[in-house]
Amino acid sequence: MSTTQRPIGLFDSGIGGLSVLNAIQQALPKERLLYFGDNAHIPYGDRTLREIRSFSAAITRALLGKGCKMIVIACNTASAAGLKVLREAYPHTLFVGMEPALKPAAERSRSKVVGVIATTATFQGELFASVMERFARDVQVLERPCPGLVKAIEAGELESASTEVMLRGWLEPMLAQGMDQLVLACTHYPFVRPLIERICGPIVQIIDPAPAVAKQVERLLEQRGLLASGTGPATPIRGWTSGDIDTFTSLVEKLDTPKFEVQQAFWKDGELSLP
Ligand code: DGL
Repeated sequence: MSTTQRPIGLFDSGIGGLSVLNAIQQALPKERLLYFGDNAHIPYGDRTLREIRSFSAAITRALLGKGCKMIVIACNTASAAGLKVLREAYPHTLFVGMEPALKPAAERSRSKVVGVIATTATFQGELFASVMERFARDVQVLERPCPGLVKAIEAGELESASTEVMLRGWLEPMLAQGMDQLVLACTHYPFVRPLIERICGPIVQIIDPAPAVAKQVERLLEQRGLLASGTGPATPIRGWTSGDIDTFTSLVEKLDTPKFEVQQAFWKDGELSLP
């Protein structure tokens, strides 16, 4: 297969990365996409950076084994833990990762109070510290880990009363401090955006970085002459989960994202197999 026609591999701890896959498919409909959700190890956000790094390296190996021309780490937590190390370990591989979108938030903020919601592990990584140093000089940043939110989203609780109570508990104090920008720094969180919008009201601008990440994918592929060619749509998305296929599939049905058939992936002795 010519290099341009090779797939782009995406991964996340579960369904979160589908918010990124959606944006990539809309921007680049000719690209072949592979998606892996590591539901056997979800949530990543409560694990050590070392553990997440080791999962991410094994997933990268498995996706490269499928001939991927680029790896998109469609998970803020895995990007925080592993992006730098993976780039060093695979210097010839193109990686795109998630970075908390503090730059646009700081630029747009009038109140100069910006909120970031993410997993606990994302706030612990070097990546967050570097983003803070680069872009948060003139703003106050309210950092809010949201333990339990990824689990609720994976359970399909996108609009439930209990998810709303959790979100109110985190967001209302941030609103009281004058936040006017809210960065979604976990790829699962766009799936509860309607609820977040209801709680935050029209004054708060919500920033989901997925479209910017899709643009970055396009830019990089174009620079390297790797954009898929042809006139028709790409072949169907291939997806795997290391968790329960039925649970994963029924959740995908519920989301406003592309549909695809899901296959079983297996972990064995620290290596991932994607049949
Ligand atoms: N979607 C992942 C992220 O972007 C969720 C991590 C988790 O499993 O806790 O951070």
